[in-house]
Amino acid sequence: MGDDVVDYYRKITLGGTGMIITGDFPVTPDGPIRTDTSFTDVAVSGLERIAEVVHRTDGRCMVVAQLNTGYIGKVPSQRQSPFSKNPTPALSEKEIKVIIECFAQGVIKAKSLGYDGVQFHAAHGTLLCDFLSPYANKRQDDYGGTVRKRVNIIREIVTLARQDAGDFPILIKANCTDYIEGGIDADSFPELASEIENAGIDAIEVSGGRYDCLVRTEEELGFRPVPGAESHTRINSVDKQSYFYPYTENLHLSIPIILVGGNKDVEHLEKLLKNGRVDFMAMCRPLICEPDLPNRWLLGQGKSISQCISCNSCIYDMIMNFSNKHARITRCLYKEDTEEYKKAQKWLSSWVENHKV
Ligand SMILES: Cc1cc2nc3c(=O)[nH]c(=O)nc-3n(C[C@H](O)[C@H](O)[C@H](O)COP(=O)(O)O)c2cc1C
Repeated sequence: MGDDVVDYYRKITLGGTGMIITGDFPVTPDGPIRTDTSFTDVAVSGLERIAEVVHRTDGRCMVVAQLNTGYIGKVPSQRQSPFSKNPTPALSEKEIKVIIECFAQGVIKAKSLGYDGVQFHAAHGTLLCDFLSPYANKRQDDYGGTVRKRVNIIREIVTLARQDAGDFPILIKANCTDYIEGGIDADSFPELASEIENAGIDAIEVSGGRYDCLVRTEEELGFRPVPGAESHTRINSVDKQSYFYPYTENLHLSIPIILVGGNKDVEHLEKLLKNGRVDFMAMCRPLICEPDLPNRWLLGQGKSISQCISCNSCIYDMIMNFSNKHARITRCLYKEDTEEYKKAQKWLSSWVENHKV
């Protein structure tokens, strides 16, 4: 937890964001799940500094810790990804129980560190996303087979976490579409979302996509297949904005709905909010580009559209940083570094060809 990370959260808070959902915190270490201990504590020292700086900077701003697993190399059902040579093996029930406990401990820890809530990352092909998806989850035990059983892992985490954390807010980010045949889609999402609500979740953020879908063509997908599938590029007209909004049409939920993905123009967003189908608008890339965007909009300064060109050069910057011991805060290369921006665009365009097996 470096000072630059803490400063970054301070900057976002000062920019007028109402609630910050962090990038994901792993509740398990990378590597195989250990079933010989009931819980592996992988706390990053200083994690409480993010909650502290947000609240100190603006008492009205909330901060929610997003929880995910580390890279554990297992999935709900054995699966051959288009991007890996060997199939990824399935989790045993015993390993699933450890994961449930690790998430529950993550919730309790986030509460004790001063966060206002947690969000389970169950979108974009994470482990929890795989459990929810009929494409990735073919199990026939308590954790698969029906929509209700695919949601059981969430239900069990929530139940266990609430024994200690009480009514501490637990949000989820889930896919409304996997963009893959046999996966979550517009028809099946409403039932899944209702089951998620029944599992005791307090708010749902609607997202979509997973890496596996990137082997499909642009014509099939309706967007350019570059990393990542949840962050569409070239959003250069209003009809390309807020691209998961249509998937919220048939939701019947009493919990708040947060919409993410291509939210870029405040005038358009206000229209969507007035329709009453979604409650909150989330942004990622526009805030990497302009951390003070919410305040700029509030003050009516400049254009109603974000300066973010949805080029995903920030994804390149983040990925290049993964193995860097002295990683920087993810940047908008389009604004900050023309040479790196050019490299990013080349890397993005060739990513699928270079990684497909
Ligand atoms: C650099 C970068 C990092 C991201 N990291 C996460 C993450 O940790 N957890 C997550 O749920 N989504 C993550 N996303 C996806 C975004 O939260 C968001 O769903 C997606 O970019 C679409 O929203 P946008 O159009 O506002 O960028 C990331 C996206 C980018 C560009």
